[in-house]
Amino acid sequence: MPKKGLFVVGELNVDLIFNQINGFPQLGTEIVANDMVLTLGSSSAILAANAAAIGIPTAFCGAVGHDAYGDLVIRELQAQGVNTDFIRISEEHSTGITVVMNYEQERANVTYCGAMEALRMPDIPWEHIARFKHFHISNFFLQKGIRADITEIFQRVKAAGLTTSLDLQWDVSNRWEFDFRACLPHVDVFLPNEAEMLALAQCDNLEASIEQLAPYTNIMAIKLGQQGSLGIQGGNRFRVKAFELPDYVDSVGAGDSFNAGFLKKFLENAPLETCLKFGNLMGALNTTAAGGTTAFRCGLGIEHQIKRLLPNGC
Ligand SMILES: Nc1ncnc2c1ncn2[C@@H]1O[C@H](COP(=O)(O)OP(=O)(O)O)[C@@H](O)[C@H]1O
Ligand SMILES: [Mg+2]
Repeated sequence: MPKKGLFVVGELNVDLIFNQINGFPQLGTEIVANDMVLTLGSSSAILAANAAAIGIPTAFCGAVGHDAYGDLVIRELQAQGVNTDFIRISEEHSTGITVVMNYEQERANVTYCGAMEALRMPDIPWEHIARFKHFHISNFFLQKGIRADITEIFQRVKAAGLTTSLDLQWDVSNRWEFDFRACLPHVDVFLPNEAEMLALAQCDNLEASIEQLAPYTNIMAIKLGQQGSLGIQGGNRFRVKAFELPDYVDSVGAGDSFNAGFLKKFLENAPLETCLKFGNLMGALNTTAAGGTTAFRCGLGIEHQIKRLLPNGC
């Protein structure tokens, strides 16, 4: 049987997002948000939901608690067409939650990890992995249960014949304990943003961080916010400008939507430049509605937006 689709292993939580605030709260004070959204959060889930919304068959493996937020997470993933058969419902933990405060183009987050720390390597349904084409892990640092096994996980997935990608995301402990020399050779596409590159490589400029990491990576796709993205493969570099969209709301999940767009083209065996361009488009579209998935709710709307922005295709 031909291999098909994307298998995502990751953390799950809801996002409680406050928009339209007048600055960040100071200790001992209270401020008012004029807009609030409770929606599917977590980097991995945003990627999975948006990948499914743009036509990639997608399955998810993660953990939620036996509670209302867990129900919301599973319902929203299913509504976007994600296969949730491999999500574990933990009786010992509550579902994770992130409180997000958006102020202009800045944001401040507080996360309660809950069940996301419960996922372990044996929870990955190894007997089902081989039928998928691609395997992705996001938010490595928040998933304490799989951190120690990350290299072994990627080795096993590669041995099963899948292509692989990794988005580490930010390390909230700021220790950056990730053995990139051991792990990244087994990752086909490494998907950091600029700040994560500097922190991981302990450098103060992007060029130096690229020099540190490039010997261990296959493809690097570095997300540069409003500056677009930079792809590096072997000795080749591609710099692709961001799309300018007039209706910016917030950038929660822009990097995850970039990943979904990038992987869509990567799975179609498109050249790196095309993958970056489509990633930029999905990242930009993400910023036009609150949270990480709202802009991708309506499949027809996405098709229309893609045609409008890329009339001649990628
Ligand atoms: N304000 C913006 N305008 C247009 N595109 C954006 C904007 N912010 C992000 N993007 C797109 O989304 C991608 C990912 O966003 P970025 O903020 O770099 O990632 P992360 O969420 O991981 O920090 C960028 O590479 C860019 O293509
Ligand atoms: Mg990111």
